[in-house]
Amino acid sequence: MLPREFPQRSVSPTEALAALHALGGRQVRYEDGRVLNSICTRPLPVAIEAFRRFAHTNLGDNRLFPAAVELEQAVVGMIADLVEWQGAVGNLVSGGTEANLLALWAAREQGRSPRAGRPEIAAGLGVHFSVEKAAALLGLELRRARLDGRGRTDIEDLEACINENTVALVATAGTSELGAVDDVEAVAELGRRHGIYVHVDAATGGFLIPFARGLGHRYPRFDLGVPGLCSITIDPHKYGLSVIPSGCVLFAHPRIQELVAWDSHYKGTQRHTTLLGTRPGGAAAATFAVLTTLGRPGFERLVAECFARRDLLVSELGQRGFTLVTSPELTIVGVRCADPDDVLRRLEEQGWFASVSRRLQALRIVVHRHTPPERLVEFVDALCGVQQGLVAVGGTA
Ligand SMILES: Cc1ncc(COP(=O)(O)O)c(C=O)c1O
Repeated sequence: MLPREFPQRSVSPTEALAALHALGGRQVRYEDGRVLNSICTRPLPVAIEAFRRFAHTNLGDNRLFPAAVELEQAVVGMIADLVEWQGAVGNLVSGGTEANLLALWAAREQGRSPRAGRPEIAAGLGVHFSVEKAAALLGLELRRARLDGRGRTDIEDLEACINENTVALVATAGTSELGAVDDVEAVAELGRRHGIYVHVDAATGGFLIPFARGLGHRYPRFDLGVPGLCSITIDPHKYGLSVIPSGCVLFAHPRIQELVAWDSHYKGTQRHTTLLGTRPGGAAAATFAVLTTLGRPGFERLVAECFARRDLLVSELGQRGFTLVTSPELTIVGVRCADPDDVLRRLEEQGWFASVSRRLQALRIVVHRHTPPERLVEFVDALCGVQQGLVAVGGTA
């Protein structure tokens, strides 16, 4: 147990680092390949080094750290280019939660009307809980539409959620639950027809879908050529292999970003367009280093590798008689089992970390670069063992 009292004596940096080193043994290591619940992974070494070099910089102060701010805007431009939102404006933020919050804040401001009642937003049931948090903070009522059999928002039901108080529709490109990709074009069309702001949450899918397309996979469009889209969330600290905290929010037009702009007390620093004031320039440097090191070929290799592993996992699960919730579109696999919480607990006792979707009552497995193919096969062996054990003690798993 670490001390919790404020230190009354000093120790050397070596001692402080030794204490951190000792803690390392109590944490799961991505390198062991046993983490199957995480959309984040170990950042590339170049990202860690870049973060270290810019660790002292603050993106909230453009006078002191213009180079960091330039890095931020270069990265924003690269990400905008990746998702074909060229000309969009945006910021690097602390993650998907902040990005979704900023987007919905802008939507609430845009949708303000003297006649309307409590403002509402509508999204599919698979929407990430960060949108629930944003709705709670912003005083928005969240209406949820049914999903289709593949975990995508049912567009007719989404339309049925719209009323005169609706200020935003949220489409998800890669749900956290199943990696499902909503028909963003159809959501945008609804937004256009009803005059409502449309936000795309591509926190998870944003660094997968553009490269998967390059490999020949087909997904709904969510580029700025689709009229009606107002903002998008994309997280470099997920499949973008950057450090935590690295999220990104883009707005289709500076006029929309202005809705969340805030003046600081001080003359000379830029208007803030993020929730946080002091922001890590290290994250901008890290993401810049990853994007430039890997480039499109590196990311395509990575996505091809992740998809090949996902296919291996799906095939192993199929051969052992497991049923999937649906055929996965990205890298998240839902597996039906009778008592997923118990299965999860038993897997964890054996050092495997998966997760359970509360809504679906299904085991949720995230495939990432840190889990090599042989580990996935071992994992399915372990899952079979757990299932058989449960059946042997009279369960119905
Ligand atoms: C689709 C989606 N949106 C938003 C978030 C929230 O991102 P963060 O945890 O970086 O705040 C996540 C996190 O997994 C996500 O998958």
